[in-house]
Parts: sequence; structure tokens; C-alpha cells
Amino acid sequence: MTNSLSQQGLFSSRWLFILAATGAAVGLGNIWKFPYMAGENGGGAFVLVYLVCIFLVGIPIMTAEVLLGRAGRKNPVDTMYNLAAASEARPVWGWVGIMGVVAGLLIMSFYSVIAGWALHYFSEALQGAFIQQDAAAISAQFDQLLQSPMTLFAWHSLFTFMTALIVMLGVSAGLGSVAKYMMPFLLLVLLVLVSYALFAGHFAEAAKFLFRPDFSKLTASSVLAAMGHAFFTLSIGMGAIMAYGAYMPASACVGRTIFAVAILDTLVALLAGLAIFPLVFAYGLAPSSGPGLLFVSLPIAFGQMPAGAVFGALFFAFVIIAAWSSSVSMIEPAVAWLTERFGFRRWQATLVIALACWLLGIASVLSFNLWAEVKPVYLMGRNPFDFLDMLTSQVMLPLGGAAMGIFVGWKMAGRLRQTELASLSPMLQKALLFLLCWVSPILVATVMMAKLYESFGA
Ligand code: PHE
Repeated sequence: MTNSLSQQGLFSSRWLFILAATGAAVGLGNIWKFPYMAGENGGGAFVLVYLVCIFLVGIPIMTAEVLLGRAGRKNPVDTMYNLAAASEARPVWGWVGIMGVVAGLLIMSFYSVIAGWALHYFSEALQGAFIQQDAAAISAQFDQLLQSPMTLFAWHSLFTFMTALIVMLGVSAGLGSVAKYMMPFLLLVLLVLVSYALFAGHFAEAAKFLFRPDFSKLTASSVLAAMGHAFFTLSIGMGAIMAYGAYMPASACVGRTIFAVAILDTLVALLAGLAIFPLVFAYGLAPSSGPGLLFVSLPIAFGQMPAGAVFGALFFAFVIIAAWSSSVSMIEPAVAWLTERFGFRRWQATLVIALACWLLGIASVLSFNLWAEVKPVYLMGRNPFDFLDMLTSQVMLPLGGAAMGIFVGWKMAGRLRQTELASLSPMLQKALLFLLCWVSPILVATVMMAKLYESFGA
């Protein structure tokens, strides 16, 4: 175990990279966050902007990240420093890696609180807590959970521990095994839920809500939310994909791989929407009810359907596994940095990082109860959970991602870039560079400025 590669273990195949990248991408962002954000931002128009961002910005930046990772073969911070040096660009590019590492830790801190909700709901489903409960009772159960900081804290702790365990084991061993079996089963469970919603819910109304854009509902805030979510859901802009790219064999072809990951990720989000919204409309829930949407809608279905207890437990088990394979990727860049750059052992680095996220997570735990109304000016009038969510998805990931794209497009030495781009056709190379050099930076800058103008201007 002398050099960094053998320390982390190179992915043995392109297949393993697909699994790990899909594992990172598909998570709470798809099943929990996408539906409630679509609900809060008026449905169709939000979904359309999100889809456009996935294709115009997300896929190119994901490609850029893989490319940087493979060219640098280190953790995101050192990769950016080294590639900047090799390209005779300024060392300040290293900060893109550092911002990514920090973003990953901030995301992890609140992500594990929400994954904790799923752990709690898994155990509730097993005990048949939803059987024959009406919508009001299900909502009350959720409120009761939020009102109990100790329960939230306990589940948050368990999830943080689970994540640390896998990261300690290392990338190939830890991750490959988690990711391998999850995806087909998750898709299957989602399909069953969508079919149930088709019969038992208001499906047509839901489809109209999600897919018929009403552009009058679009504001700068909702466009920024949609764009930010495209970054969040693909796990781009913070180095997770770069770290995984560094473990990818040099021979593997990137183009199709990334496309496959993005399509799968989008599919899971849309299926989750189609499972949830028919019930939302059938039971008179508010589409805009916020982060609880998943937890107050699907349990109603589990309470009514045959074998709902088993099925509910199965569903939440998959949500947990999906969240788990994502959370691992959030702290991997930080752990890789500490081990490669500062000589930590893997277990030590994991311990330090997990501890920091665990402690910071307490702020999010309290955001749903004691601190719900604590919205200080220095957190821009938000409680800690809302602030961390906004800061990471809507500021750090888009800025980080756009910067990585700009680096690949404008700064990276031609010979380094060309080696990595070689597997793409000349047409695709041109399209990619155009999107990275122009489209994503301009889009990110415009949307952010529009939002600033909306908030503070006029
Ligand atoms: N993409 C993950 C999800 O949708 C979240 C994530 C964000 C993971 C950033 C890693 C990095 O749940």
C-alpha cells in the first residue's frame, strides 16, 4: 500500500464505475427531493427546466469531472492543483477542489438526517404502523417524528455510522457491493408503486401537473432551484464524480457511460414523481407541502394496499440503500484528500470527517423542531437545514461545476485534454467543449444574477 492508487483500489471495470456513479447519483435527491421541489415550484415548468439543465449543463459537466479525475488520478483537490500546474494555469484552481470537499461535508450533514427519516419509516413499516391509517393520521405520525429531536438524532447517528463504515472499507470493496444489486430492485419497486398510483390515485391530474408546463409559475428562484437540483441529483460540482473518475480504468469509454448514468437518474426521479403525485391529489394533500411530501404520501398507499407492511418496508429499505451509496460519495473526496495529501490512514480520515458531519448534522436535526423558526440574517433568513440545502445546491455546486467546465474548456493543456477526449467522436468533442466553454458558465451566471436581482433588486 504505498501509492495512492493501490491504496484506494482502481475500479476493476467500466461496469463498476457505472454502478458507483449511479449509486452516487441516485439517492434521496431523486426520491425525496425532486418530488417535493417540483411540488413547491409549480410542477411542469420546473420539471422542464430541470430536464434541460440535466442535458445542457449536467451531462457535459459530469463528463468534464470524469475527464479531470482520470487525468489527475488523485483526490479532487490535488487533481485540480496538479492539472493546473501541468497546464500552466494558476494554483487558485485548487480551490475548486477544496470548495467541493467542503460542499460534500455540508451536504452529508443534512442528508443523513433525512436518510434517518427513511430509517425510522423502515422500522415503522415493518411494525405495520401505516395499516388502515388515513391521510390525517399519516401526517400526524410524520409531525410527531419531526417534533422529537432525540429520535431524529439517533437515526441521524446510525446513518452517519453506516456511511463511515463503507468508506472505511474503501472504494471497490465497500461500494461495489452496495451498488450492484440496488438499482434493478429499486426500479422494480418504483414501477409497482407507479402502477398502484395508476389505479388508486389521480394519475391524469398528476401527469398534467408534472408534465404540462405553466410558465407563469417560473420565477428566477424556481429556475435556480431547478438548475441547482440538476447538479445535486447528478452529484456533480463537488468532486464526487471526479474522485470516482480517478479510479476508472484509462481504457473505458466515458461518453455512453455518463449518458447511461444521467438517464437512469432522471428516470428514477420521474418515476418517484409519478408514484407520489397521484396519491397527493387523490388524498387532498398539498403538492407544496415541502420536505415531508414523500413521507406523508406513500405511507397512505402502504396502509391501503395488500401486503402493504412488507411492501412499505421494502420500499424504505431501497431508499436507505440508495441514500447510502450516495452519502459514501459525499465524503469520499475529503477522505481521499486527507489520506493522500496529509498521510492519514483511511480509517482515521473517515473518523475525522464523519465526526464533523455528525456534529454539524445536529443543526439540521434541530431545524425541524426547536430551531424551526430560528432564521437569522446571517443564514439569509433561513433555518440551518434550509440554509445548508440552499448554499450547497444553489451556490456551491453550480459554481464548482461551472468552474470545472471552464477549466476543461479554456485552461487545461491541450495534450492532457486530448488524451482523455480521444474516446469521443470529433462531433461530440466539439459539442462538449462548446457546452463547457459557453453554455454552462453563461447559464449559471445568468440564473444566479437573475435570482440576486429578484431578491434584492427593483
Ligand atoms: N445525487 C445524490 C442524490 O440525488 C446527492 C449527492 C449530491 C451525492 C452531491 C453526492 C454529492 O441523492
